Amino acid sequence: MRPRAQEGTPRAVTSTENSDDIRGLPARAAALDLLSAALSRRAGLDEGLSHPALAALEPRDRAFARALAMATLRWLGPIDAALHARLKKPPPERIVNVLRLGAAQLLVLKTPAHAAVGATVDLAAAQKGGQAFKGLVNAVLRGFTREPPDLNDPGLMAPTWLAMRWRSAYGAEAADAIAALIGEEPATDVTPQDGADAEALAVDLEGSVLPGRSVRSGLKGEVSGWPGFDDGRWWVQDASAAIPARLARVGAGRTALDMCAAPGGKTLQLAAAGAKVTAVDRSAGRIKRVSENLARTGLGAEVVIADAGEWKDERTFDAVLLDAPCSATGTFRRHPDLLWVASPAEIPKLAQVQAKLLDSAAKRTAPGGRLVYCVCSLEWEEGEGQMDAFLARHKDFALEPMAPGEGGAPEASLRPDGTLRILPNHVEGGTDGFYVARLRKGA
Ligand SMILES: C[S@@+](CC[C@H](N)C(=O)[O-])C[C@H]1O[C@@H](n2cnc3c(N)ncnc32)[C@H](O)[C@@H]1O
Repeated sequence: MRPRAQEGTPRAVTSTENSDDIRGLPARAAALDLLSAALSRRAGLDEGLSHPALAALEPRDRAFARALAMATLRWLGPIDAALHARLKKPPPERIVNVLRLGAAQLLVLKTPAHAAVGATVDLAAAQKGGQAFKGLVNAVLRGFTREPPDLNDPGLMAPTWLAMRWRSAYGAEAADAIAALIGEEPATDVTPQDGADAEALAVDLEGSVLPGRSVRSGLKGEVSGWPGFDDGRWWVQDASAAIPARLARVGAGRTALDMCAAPGGKTLQLAAAGAKVTAVDRSAGRIKRVSENLARTGLGAEVVIADAGEWKDERTFDAVLLDAPCSATGTFRRHPDLLWVASPAEIPKLAQVQAKLLDSAAKRTAPGGRLVYCVCSLEWEEGEGQMDAFLARHKDFALEPMAPGEGGAPEASLRPDGTLRILPNHVEGGTDGFYVARLRKGA
């Protein structure tokens, strides 16, 4: 059995010995706040990333804080297993988070041990009641430096309940391939406003053109500094997230309703295709981003703050796009936190919300018009199961099957009924997981 932390704690290294470590306590404290927020609630990571305290840091400290929190979240499963093996009794949650950050520095970011251990001990000491845990933190992290645990166990990358669901839905090989992507930092994909610009944009963003004409950028860092951002030449949008709006096949001058629109990637696509777009979202805060994105790109849309299930508007539209709120388990590459804050109990509740929004979408689709439903979830109840139930309720709708590769969809994602189940491993380097169905309303 491994020596336990409480037994024979070695001398703590302090950060005064780390004068070479420019990213000291403020950056690690910010990473701790970010990690704690991310693991405490669904929107915690996004809120933490846009918190003024993070923005107030020096750019290098800010980048380090983000990278550290994200690395910790991406490897949380194996890190927790390694900590569990060394802790007789778990310390308070705040100290567990300090330990998680220390482990990520040592084992993922490969921060030099003297800096990682010393600064993490100081971080523990700076927490309320933290002085009492300095020895424990020092001992656990020093244990990791002596005997580094192997983090590369696909069985530990996702919570067991999710891993089991993916295994039973997609098979062991796909589930392992999905799990293997959890630890990887994703590249940034962007959608060019003009598809014909994709090749030139790929050169400017040092990337490559993907099927469907999304561009996978090779650049890192703040996207607002990348070529063409200020001119609205492109917007950030995962390659999979760009597929559903293309499948609406909405022509110039036709009307389109984007029912859950913020931050607006799909609204921009529909507007760039020449449609007269109405973008609805119930979140006033999030819909501001739709307006900002429209302003930056010079595209136009009617923007409405409303609950799309209750919205009092009698219009019908040639195309309705419903990118419904969901468990978002397919977005773990950018939101690894969601794997750990999602719960099995919320899935049926989300499925009820989606069903209500789908019924509303059906009402707002013009006769002969298209309804595209999508969710960035890997869970059957929010995708295939939801669509089966919708078709049973709405006999005036029929699936309009997708052609192989249509809209840039990976061929492996096409299901026998013509809907798409895009798995993160369907694209080299990874992509967001999505379910997409296209329906036609009877004329
Ligand atoms: C998956 S995100 C949409 C992403 C967006 N379609 C895009 O491509 O940028 C889901 C959105 O649904 C919104 N939402 C959730 N419930 C809603 C409701 N009942 N009515 C309208 N919007 C809702 C959320 O505020 C959130 O912005």
